[in-house]
Amino acid sequence: MVRFPELTFDERLGEFAEDVVAGLASRPRTLPCKYFYDARGSDLFEAITELPEYYPTRTEIGILRDHARDICGELAPGSALIEYGSGSSLKTEILLSAGDFAAYAPIDISPSAIEGAARRLRARFPSLRVEPVVADFVGEVVLPKSLDGLPRAGFFPGSTIGNFDPADARALLRRMARQLGPGAKLVIGVDLRKSADILVPAYDDAQGVTAAFNLNLLHRLENELGAEIDVDGFAHRAIWNPRESRIEMHLEATRPQTIRVAGHDFRFAAGETIHTENSHKYGASDFDDLARSAGWRPGETFVDANGLFSVRVLEAR
Ligand code: TRP
Repeated sequence: MVRFPELTFDERLGEFAEDVVAGLASRPRTLPCKYFYDARGSDLFEAITELPEYYPTRTEIGILRDHARDICGELAPGSALIEYGSGSSLKTEILLSAGDFAAYAPIDISPSAIEGAARRLRARFPSLRVEPVVADFVGEVVLPKSLDGLPRAGFFPGSTIGNFDPADARALLRRMARQLGPGAKLVIGVDLRKSADILVPAYDDAQGVTAAFNLNLLHRLENELGAEIDVDGFAHRAIWNPRESRIEMHLEATRPQTIRVAGHDFRFAAGETIHTENSHKYGASDFDDLARSAGWRPGETFVDANGLFSVRVLEAR
């Protein structure tokens, strides 16, 4: 398994502390979303994907199942499938069993998630070369040498592209085009813009799983950085921002408090928030424009019968 970049435990912790201090000092206050996904965060996210209110996962899986052959038909036979943020790789299995792939490189920041997935896929597809990469796919990723010479297909499901601001999404898509190379394909899941009555509960469920997922960030600050925080004095908020076409996730201080972390004090008034995540929702043609501006030619689009979610196939120019 490749880990990139190679960092010691202390370097990793130092980077976490620096990112936290920078985020809490900025206005609006933020925390980088990549820190959601420690072992507990990955488990909680798994639970989110099974919630009745959270339609994206089951809808995207339905689209992949219904159109697996058509989607794989868009990809070169014998391709290397490279997945950005692979998690449990459950969706990937649908493509791997419908198409002809020589290799699979899952890229994920969570070693626990990626190790389990690699083991399962090697058992199910014995002739597939599985080459896991533990990395933040947002940074420069070094692809395993064994993929050299194979046609390439990127896989970026889950509408994770929506978790980036449009400018960052464009930069990421451009980097993927450069990394995968001209002629490469990208199969990407994109959640569609829809009524707030559907969107808000998807990010603020009745059981409070999404709240626990968001609050897990603060528990990580406590447990890993020794931060002093009144975690019970923060509440999960999910807000639809129609102007930016995005759901915003916040942690709101419900009473005044001070977070003490890495030698810094951050004072919160009641009602003040930490903006932890965005989930942008696209109209079909808005996403075409974004893809084109990032060096991709939009190809086939697959949508569920209710028009909730789309799976797009793009080609690198
Ligand atoms: N890509 C997912 C989405 O935007 C990520 C996600 C789902 C998420 N629920 C969340 C991120 C709650 C933060 C908090 O739908």
